[in-house]
Amino acid sequence: MSTSEKPILNPILIAPSILSADFARLGEEVRAIEAAGADLVHFDVMDNHYVPNLTIGPLVCEAIRPHVKIGIDVHLMVEPVDALIPLFAKAGANLITFHPEASRHVDRTLQLIRDHGCKAGIALNPATPLGWMDHVMDRLDMVLLMSVNPGFGGQKFIPSTLDKLRDARRRIATHTAAGGQPILLEVDGGVKTDNIGVIAAAGADTFVAGSAVFGAPDAGGGYSTVMQLLRRAAIQA
Ligand code: DX5
Ligand code: ZN
Repeated sequence: MSTSEKPILNPILIAPSILSADFARLGEEVRAIEAAGADLVHFDVMDNHYVPNLTIGPLVCEAIRPHVKIGIDVHLMVEPVDALIPLFAKAGANLITFHPEASRHVDRTLQLIRDHGCKAGIALNPATPLGWMDHVMDRLDMVLLMSVNPGFGGQKFIPSTLDKLRDARRRIATHTAAGGQPILLEVDGGVKTDNIGVIAAAGADTFVAGSAVFGAPDAGGGYSTVMQLLRRAAIQA
């Protein structure tokens, strides 16, 4: 069966992480990934406290906002969490995920994100259990599973994430079958053209790709070749 004949049950969302972009040309870079078919801009916020690296904040989010129409998917790797939420919402974020162990009151933080008009999600590290989802299912728009330890781009995909994805997919399916709202299942770290197929087959529907997109051989040529390869491999899974 060819790709065009195969029914697409779940839309695939590709979210290039600008962590691997050229920060000196960020406006141009986000326009290029949008033109290449990106569904979201993945925006990695690191604070040199929750993770051992320091990146970008609301001012940079606000600066790139006018350059693209696609949503900005803000991944907060910060502790504490809450004070940054209004700032990112004001800066144009569409979706905000945070690491639940970095928030004192996870339910309250999720509500805070929604109160500011953004979609909300939790991000779980490789060793963080899925149980964090259980009592906040009805407040989640996304669950992000880290497939590397957070802090740096360009790391290798941790294979045990595949089982965790299958488990998370089952929990989401049970929730939606019982009438719950849809929840995106995002995977973040080490996603490449040669493993995105198995990752999609394990249940992910939203794929962060940093070094795979911005380090592509055709970088500067619009990133469209790598984006097509990623999407095709994910859909064929
Ligand atoms: C890691 C970040 C990721 C990272 C992904 O802490 O959350 O978004 O930039 O980069 P790659 O795709 O290169 O692993
Ligand atoms: Zn991320």
